[in-house]
Amino acid sequence: MAPLLHSLLLAASLLSTASLSRTLFAYERKQLTREYVESLPEEDARLFAFDGQFAAAPNKTSTRCRYGPDDGKWPSEKAWTKLARQLSSVDALIKAVPQASVCYGDTKNDAQCTALTANWTNSYSHIDDPTEILSPIYQGLTCTPPQIYNSGNCTLGGYPSYVIKAKNVLDLQLGINFARNDGVRLVVKNTGHDFAGKSAGAGALSLWTHGLKDMQFFDNYVDESGYKGPAIKAGAGVQAFELYKFANDHGVVAVAGEGQTVGVMGGYIQGGGHSPLSSIYGMAADHVLGFEVITPIGEFLSANSSANQDLFWALRGGGGGTFGVVTSVMIKVYKDMPVTAASWTLDSSKLGKDNFWAATKAFVDRVTPHADNGTYSYFILAPSATGTDYSFIMQPFFAPNQTAKQVNTLLGPYSSALTRINVPFSPKITEYKGFYAAWQAEFPLEAQSDVQTAFGSRLFPRSNFASETGRNITFNTLRTTVEAGQSVIGFNMAPTLARGGNPDNAVNPAWRTSLLHAITGRRWNLPSTTSSILAARNSFTNGTMQKWRDVTPGSGSYLNEADRLEPNWQQAFWGDKYARLLQIKKDNDPKDVLWAVNAVGSEGWRVESVDGLPDENGKLCKIESATPTSSVAPGATQTGVPCEGFCR
Ligand SMILES: Cc1cc2nc3c(=O)[nH]c(=O)nc-3n(C[C@H](O)[C@H](O)[C@H](O)COP(=O)(O)OP(=O)(O)OC[C@H]3O[C@@H](n4cnc5c(N)ncnc54)[C@H](O)[C@@H]3O)c2cc1C
Ligand SMILES: *[C@@H]1O[C@H](CO)[C@@H](O)[C@H](O)[C@H]1NC(C)=O
Ligand SMILES: *[C@@H]1O[C@H](CO)[C@@H](O)[C@H](O)[C@H]1NC(C)=O
Ligand SMILES: *[C@@H]1O[C@H](CO)[C@@H](O)[C@H](O)[C@H]1NC(C)=O
Ligand SMILES: *[C@@H]1O[C@H](CO)[C@@H](O)[C@H](O)[C@H]1NC(C)=O
Ligand SMILES: *[C@@H]1O[C@H](CO)[C@@H](O)[C@H](O)[C@H]1NC(C)=O
Ligand SMILES: *[C@@H]1O[C@H](CO)[C@@H](O)[C@H](O)[C@H]1NC(C)=O
Ligand SMILES: *[C@@H]1O[C@H](CO)[C@@H](O)[C@H](O)[C@H]1NC(C)=O
Ligand SMILES: *[C@@H]1O[C@H](CO)[C@@H](O)[C@H](O)[C@H]1NC(C)=O
Repeated sequence: MAPLLHSLLLAASLLSTASLSRTLFAYERKQLTREYVESLPEEDARLFAFDGQFAAAPNKTSTRCRYGPDDGKWPSEKAWTKLARQLSSVDALIKAVPQASVCYGDTKNDAQCTALTANWTNSYSHIDDPTEILSPIYQGLTCTPPQIYNSGNCTLGGYPSYVIKAKNVLDLQLGINFARNDGVRLVVKNTGHDFAGKSAGAGALSLWTHGLKDMQFFDNYVDESGYKGPAIKAGAGVQAFELYKFANDHGVVAVAGEGQTVGVMGGYIQGGGHSPLSSIYGMAADHVLGFEVITPIGEFLSANSSANQDLFWALRGGGGGTFGVVTSVMIKVYKDMPVTAASWTLDSSKLGKDNFWAATKAFVDRVTPHADNGTYSYFILAPSATGTDYSFIMQPFFAPNQTAKQVNTLLGPYSSALTRINVPFSPKITEYKGFYAAWQAEFPLEAQSDVQTAFGSRLFPRSNFASETGRNITFNTLRTTVEAGQSVIGFNMAPTLARGGNPDNAVNPAWRTSLLHAITGRRWNLPSTTSSILAARNSFTNGTMQKWRDVTPGSGSYLNEADRLEPNWQQAFWGDKYARLLQIKKDNDPKDVLWAVNAVGSEGWRVESVDGLPDENGKLCKIESATPTSSVAPGATQTGVPCEGFCR
């Protein structure tokens, strides 16, 4: 090796050896210590103690339900005030107020209500709000703008009671300890994007991580796993549009989602995370080097390849709101690359239905070579408003590291198939110098906040596309769904390989063999009675989605974009990794301080909703030990997943 090059490399490696010690943001250095808790008057120390710090600490975790504001056991005003005083600023404790309270009662303000209504489906209008979530049906629709859904009155419903707007680790530790010690339900909210309403809960104290926005770039990070290369450490509140810009400013790309406002380091990456780069780099979680995390005990730890390895494994795919509250994540990043994107629309009103479906089948026929060439395509297959026609909207066919010429070649066989049936094909093809510009220009801002739809999804494995019979069956299943009036959102990708990443993590194994992640939904009319909503949901979950499951036996569903009523969710979300995840949950959170619906270890509890619908509008209670069902063997659920004491 040339001496100059050698000394440069040596200098670089000396420089980055610094990263072998724990790297903390300033907000992570502000922590709660056991010594500090001990220095407090006893009454206060009990409120904020770490789990097990005092033998005589009040034990409210053994009651059947988490306490609520009106059951007489809720912390006193005085206790909440003490919490506010311990936080890094008194205004960090926020009493939850629904955004749409401006539309009702004494707080009514017509101008503000009109503006909120106009902006309701824009995700940006909810994310900076401490209380709001983007899946209002799981809040219970108790305070929605009346033009969208008339709630009658505005009540908190499934929104939390209090929110801690966290500025540092100290705030989060205080919140965790206070909730655990006082029997209050704890939830974690980042952006509130969760499809199943996991970032809300009636009567809860919510830890809001949205403000933790710090980012740091390392051009040559070195760690014990053997990684040497660029990395970004990002705070728990960083969103996709922020991470991508920051990465771009440093000439690199990060493996993160397509949605602009999704929080990358919260539910997204902890649930696996699919990305426009997934057909090259696998899942976002494959690229995590380490987490900083506060456990349900209240302790602030690192989880990485050399410390707390089980927790590290579980946090990469095991799901948000389950194992601890993550304060930052260190991820590998990669050299930027050019991108070509294509978009097109096919419409049955122009093509005729037969040709439209034949053209759609031609696309299904090509999902294998498309994804295996590194592309990620995002398409919508939808009935028209009248239900008499259909459209296929590709927005976009995203080809990282490819030129327009390469994309034309790749799309060649599809284009020829369309030509054979006289379907004109003229996609808009654009070359971009780098990832950021392509991502910004090509992906739409998705609307959210639907008040009358249940969503679900399925991972369609590679084997479904390997034979003509398989492709026919798969295509016919999708076609039947759309002809029944339901839209399908498809993501064609192959996160098979984690090039540069480490796939030994808790990501759903079904992702590795999947070529199509498809989402669909079932809408109902409003207003609807509880029983008709339950009937619609039953026909969705056990009808439409059962047909999807029937043609994909043994596969699964993506936990971050799933049906809240997904049957056998342990298998669907984690396959054979569930048993290990459950053990890690028990080891880290024996008191179930963190609970979210369909999260690892959530079996023993459920929300007793006041409206009888599956939502967060009710108390979180232990499921009473029923008289054992003779058909179920001890230690096993009906679905065959070992329940290790969680489902007695
Ligand atoms: C418009 C839109 C676009 C999307 N695009 C993509 C995409 O391209 N790829 C993809 O894979 N998914 C995508 N998703 C799904 C997305 O991954 C999930 O909605 C995910 O839950 C969002 O995480 P969040 O932290 O932003 O949301 P939140 O709702 O705030 O949190 C989600 C869950 O994570 C927990 N959580 C949040 N922060 C933390 C933390 N710091 N520590 C511990 N737990 C935490 C919460 O308690 C909750 O259980 C999209 C969703 C939407 C609505
Ligand atoms: C992993 O965490 C431990 C404990 O905080 C720390 O000493 C170590 O440096 C971390 N490793 C890396 C690569 O960050
Ligand atoms: C606290 O409650 C847990 C869970 O029910 C129980 O296992 C534990 O023994 C209790 N501890 C005390 C000190 O009562
Ligand atoms: C909300 O609506 C108003 C008026 O329609 C608009 O000016 C504003 O930009 C919108 N805000 C958001 C966050 O979309
Ligand atoms: C609103 O609340 C009041 C008082 O609790 C109740 O009498 C009324 O029926 C409620 N209205 C609706 C539409 O729910
Ligand atoms: C990439 O696409 C080309 C053109 O369709 C195809 O011939 C080739 O098999 C694909 N490559 C892979 C790895 O699938
Ligand atoms: C991008 O393409 C170049 C040359 O075509 C290749 O050397 C490089 O490995 C590719 N990068 C990725 C991430 O696939
Ligand atoms: C697949 O479907 C097409 C169109 O309906 C049909 O012509 C073909 O015979 C089918 N192939 C198989 C193997 O089922
Ligand atoms: C689906 O059917 C099962 C078995 O009958 C039932 O227990 C479950 O509640 C149904 N799911 C929904 C969403 O109705």
